Amino acid sequence: VPVRLTDYRPADFLIDSVALDFRLDRTATRVVATLTLRRNPKGVPGAALVLDGDELTLVSLKLDGRALGPQEYEATPDRLTLSAVPDGPFTLEIETRVDPTANTQLSGLYRSGSAYCTQCEAEGFRRITYFLDRPDVLSVYTTRIEADEREAPVLLANGNPVEAGKIAGGSRHYAVWRDPFPKPSYLFALVGGDLGVVRDSFTTMSGREVALAIYVEHGKEARAEYAMDALKRSMRWDEEKFGREYDLDVFNIVAVSDFNMGAMENKGLNVFNDKYVLASPETATDGDYAGIEAVIAHEYFHNWTGNRITCRDWFQLCLKEGLTVFRDHEFSADMRSRPVQRISEVRGLRLVQFPEDAGPLAHPVRPSVYHEINNFYTSTVYEKGSELVRMLRTLIGAETFRRGMDIYFERFDGTAATVEDFLSCFAEASGRDLSQFALWYSQAGTPVLSSEGAYDPDAKTFTLTLKQETRPTPGQTDKKPVVIPVALALFSENGQKLDLASRDARPEELSRGLVELTGAERRLTFENVPSRPIVSLLRGFSAPVRLEPAPASADLERQLAFDDDPFNRWQAAQSLALRAIFARVDAARQGAAAPEAPGYVAALRTLLVGADADPAFAAQALSLPSVIDLAREAGSDVDPDVHHAARMGLRAEIGGALRADAEAAYARFADKGPYRPDAAGAGRRALRAVALDLVAAGDPQKGGALAQELFRNAGNMTDRLSALTTLALLGGDAREAAFESFYKQFADDPLVLDKWFSLQATIPEPATTQRVIKLMSHPDFSLTNPNRLRALIGAFANANLTCFHALDGSGYDLLTRVVLDVDPRNPQVAARLLSSLRAWRTLEARRRALVEAKLRDIVAREGLSADTRDIATRALA
Ligand code: ARG
Ligand code: ZN
Repeated sequence: VPVRLTDYRPADFLIDSVALDFRLDRTATRVVATLTLRRNPKGVPGAALVLDGDELTLVSLKLDGRALGPQEYEATPDRLTLSAVPDGPFTLEIETRVDPTANTQLSGLYRSGSAYCTQCEAEGFRRITYFLDRPDVLSVYTTRIEADEREAPVLLANGNPVEAGKIAGGSRHYAVWRDPFPKPSYLFALVGGDLGVVRDSFTTMSGREVALAIYVEHGKEARAEYAMDALKRSMRWDEEKFGREYDLDVFNIVAVSDFNMGAMENKGLNVFNDKYVLASPETATDGDYAGIEAVIAHEYFHNWTGNRITCRDWFQLCLKEGLTVFRDHEFSADMRSRPVQRISEVRGLRLVQFPEDAGPLAHPVRPSVYHEINNFYTSTVYEKGSELVRMLRTLIGAETFRRGMDIYFERFDGTAATVEDFLSCFAEASGRDLSQFALWYSQAGTPVLSSEGAYDPDAKTFTLTLKQETRPTPGQTDKKPVVIPVALALFSENGQKLDLASRDARPEELSRGLVELTGAERRLTFENVPSRPIVSLLRGFSAPVRLEPAPASADLERQLAFDDDPFNRWQAAQSLALRAIFARVDAARQGAAAPEAPGYVAALRTLLVGADADPAFAAQALSLPSVIDLAREAGSDVDPDVHHAARMGLRAEIGGALRADAEAAYARFADKGPYRPDAAGAGRRALRAVALDLVAAGDPQKGGALAQELFRNAGNMTDRLSALTTLALLGGDAREAAFESFYKQFADDPLVLDKWFSLQATIPEPATTQRVIKLMSHPDFSLTNPNRLRALIGAFANANLTCFHALDGSGYDLLTRVVLDVDPRNPQVAARLLSSLRAWRTLEARRRALVEAKLRDIVAREGLSADTRDIATRALA
């Protein structure tokens, strides 16, 4: 049954407090939940009490201390109904028994390695006890955990520690935790296990001391130091930038190796996928370090945007996720290079969100209907959601935005809020009517912003026409114009920035260089324009739209040379690359000789030679669009083989032309050690990896030799993996030897082995599919560990387009088999894997037919999970 936004009703009961008592046992954990309930004045008078469950076994039930007989309630695994309850407040004591070992869904109480842990968002709490498992029921929790001390010396739950001790006569002990902040059940967490710990402390802006701890597998403590540092920087940053102080005496993080997603913001007890905690120079890349910093910050920032202010219902998921992603993006921008951060944000958005928004799984940032909420933790809700918050700040200005945030924190603290509540704060702070802006939350699809310029040399005027259009998406055919903030600048041919003068724009639009497109079309005539200008549009990616068409190549080359907006300089390089690749695609389709792109190559030479000024930026600008980028830009009739071939052709052309410069850069940016995971070091390493790739493209022998040398002598994982990536592409015995030696060196390190699996899965040559199949029987492969599964199968399906979309259907066979195999055990992860088909309708006809047949097979399966059924059904619709 679908759940609809318009069906929202307040709960019939409120649960003021919850006392949980856990007796941890591997297969029969006993949970006693004592709830104090009362009728919600906003609920239906006289309504029955109906609590959610999921695969639960009820042991006993008491109402106000009296044991209830079986005729006084109805208990099924997924519901507990009491038709007659007192009108005044009452307590309900519910005893359930759960089997954490059998819980392979990794939702509810489960085991990761030898530890007990929980994951309750979105609807996992109901797998522990019967409850009003919805985000608008806020309660104060006390949690007592009892366990065998030898098995679980560490016992953690939300809030502050209250009491702990041994239980007489045996090896059992207990701990009691109390969280004074009312919270919804999805923020509950518990951990029990034998874990190592890193401790630190943080003094908040009002001078309170907070004890910090990160729990990891014994022996990995040193690898949690960077995460700890990131945590302290996050806590300080939220105070400085948003005035938000931490509110408990302790903040605990636990890293586990079996986790369905990245991490979870449980109040005072964040639980993390260990890949977002553990790092050392020998085992983690610069990208891993940046990921840890971002996810640590993200979960910490949820303490205010998510926990203190939570969501009224799951349709409001973007209220906490989009906003918190925006906050972690800003944090990363402050910690690292702002332009480089912005470019990676947009690359990420275009890689996953744009295809999602253009395909059958498209949905608004705030969806209005769902079958399975777990399928809505999407790039649209997170990344596009973040772009909407950024756009709001762009529209009303940073200061007014901050005032709006203050109002939000002040007014909605302790509540379960909505997107309307959020927007009302900014309407108030800015005095603006934000009703058109709100359309961004309810309308799916990426608007296309098109521009046309006309220069009048006699009048010295330049007329810019901006138009917008959003194509229909599933279930939403009519689209209204949205408000699009278009940041713009005009440059003269020699790179001088022109003052904007126009009677068609408000003075503040001109002074800010930000015009608003609110209707379908807007025409702006700029005066005193001495010659045909170069237009820099959508600077900083000021709105999540597709901009069409790209300027003429000559203008792009100029923009790359002198635009003072680094994002648009990067964009110019990308647009030039796309044009060059698509010219090759067209030529190949007509059987013509491949056209060369001398202008683009010359621009890249300038970037490479001048890379020292900002190596990280140069590395991004020198990187070619991926085959996924090409597929998205093509939009229809996609044949990844043709795109891959054209891309490799251009790569060889560039490598050939820039060989000497690439070799020089490779030498110049040599690692001077010691390794530091900061942005500056990472930028130099990224540039060097690009240089190595170019050398290998122009001179495979030379590139192979350099890569082998780097692979042997690398002082850190970033360089070692760059070398291995180059060797993987070059192939031959050197590649196989390198993979073998890498395996030997890191066989005991699961997170590094994930890289080993991934890199092999992404080799763009036909034999890879067989290689992946063979790797599935490798003793280190596992279908039950989500990280390992994503490393091999996820990488294959998402980052190896030529193999995944092989014309013989072998890639689709492989994915389908794995999805169906995983589905009964872990539906969330199976459904997520299947979403790698999000863009299938853009494929050319033969591949489309193959995918469609597979999706029909899946839908026809009996016993398919709701999660996977939902994705397959929507993908076909
Ligand atoms: N709230 C978590 C985060 O963004 C993610 C939880 C994902 N839950 C899920 N069922 N997919 O930090
Ligand atoms: Zn989040």
